[in-house]
Amino acid sequence: MRKTDFEDLKAFIESRIGIVLREEHSKTLENRLLPILRRNQIDGMSNLVTQLIRDPDSELAIDAIDVITTRETFFFRDESPFNALAERVFPIFSQTRERTRPLRVWSCATSTGQEAYSVAMTADQILRQSWDGDLDILGTDVSNYAVEKARQAAYSQIDVQRTVPARIMVRYFEKNKSRWQLQRGIRSQVRFRQFNLLDDFALLGDFDIIFCRNVLSTFSEAKRADVLDRLAQRLAPDGILVLGTLETLIGYQGDFKPVKGARGFYTLADPAEVLPDLNLHMNRKRNAG
Ligand SMILES: C[S@@+](CC[C@H](N)C(=O)[O-])C[C@H]1O[C@@H](n2cnc3c(N)ncnc32)[C@H](O)[C@@H]1O
Repeated sequence: MRKTDFEDLKAFIESRIGIVLREEHSKTLENRLLPILRRNQIDGMSNLVTQLIRDPDSELAIDAIDVITTRETFFFRDESPFNALAERVFPIFSQTRERTRPLRVWSCATSTGQEAYSVAMTADQILRQSWDGDLDILGTDVSNYAVEKARQAAYSQIDVQRTVPARIMVRYFEKNKSRWQLQRGIRSQVRFRQFNLLDDFALLGDFDIIFCRNVLSTFSEAKRADVLDRLAQRLAPDGILVLGTLETLIGYQGDFKPVKGARGFYTLADPAEVLPDLNLHMNRKRNAG
C-alpha cells in the first residue's frame, strides 16, 4: 500500500472507530483488504480508500471495518477478572443492589461473545445463589461479523478447550457436529447488538458493571479519554469498570480509581466502599441486624 493511501486509511479508521493503525501493519492490512477489492471490483487501494472516505457508512466501509478489527478473545480471558466477579463482586452486589431493578452488565467490545458469555456462566454459578432479581447482560461490538458470531454461540474445539475448565464445558456446552454450542439457558441471558464506542451511549441506559477490555489500548489518547469519560456517565456511582489486565489508565485524568487486589477493576466511588472486604461486610451486616 502506498504511504499516502495508508495515511488516508489511518485517518478514516481513527475517525470512524477510534483505532490508530500502525504503519508496520500496512502489509497485513493490505492483505486483509484485497478480497474486498476483488469482490467489489475496485481498481486499486487508492480507489478503495477514496470510496471509504466518501461514504463512511456504506456496506463497503462495514466490510472494511470487519476485516481491520482484531477480534482475538477467549472464554474467561485472564481468569482473574472472573474470579473477582465470583469471589467479591457478585456476593457484594447481591447484598447492596435493589432487587426492583435488574443488575446490568455491559461487555462493550465483546468480539465474538466469549467475554459476555463468561460473565453469564459466572453469574449462573455464583450470583444465582444469592440474587433472585433480574440480570441483564448486553454484549456489543462495532463488527457486524463478530456480533453475528456471538449470537450463534457455536465455537470451535480450540476456542473452548483452550480456556474453559472441563466441568464448565460439560455443564454449559453441547457438541453439535464439529462445533461446541452454548446451551440455550446461557445464550438466552445475553443480548447482542452492533454498537460503535464512538456513538452516544445514552440509549443503552446505565450499568452496574462495564467490561471494556483490550480495545481502548488501540485508540488514540484523546478518543480513549473521551470513551472513558462517557463510560463514567453510564456507570452506577458504585459500579465497576473492568479493563484488560495489562491495560492502565496512565495519563488519563478522569475519576476512575483502581481497586486493590482486583487487577483491571476501577470504580468511581471509593473502591473500599464499592467492594469492601467480604468478611468485614458480612460482619457489619450481622452486627447491624
Ligand atoms: C481484541 S478484541 C477484545 C475482545 C474482548 N473484550 C476481550 O478482551 O477478550 C477487540 C474488539 O473491539 C472491537 N472494537 C474495536 N473498535 C471498536 C469500536 N469503536 N466500538 C466497538 N467495538 C470496537 C473489535 O471489533 C474487537 O472485536
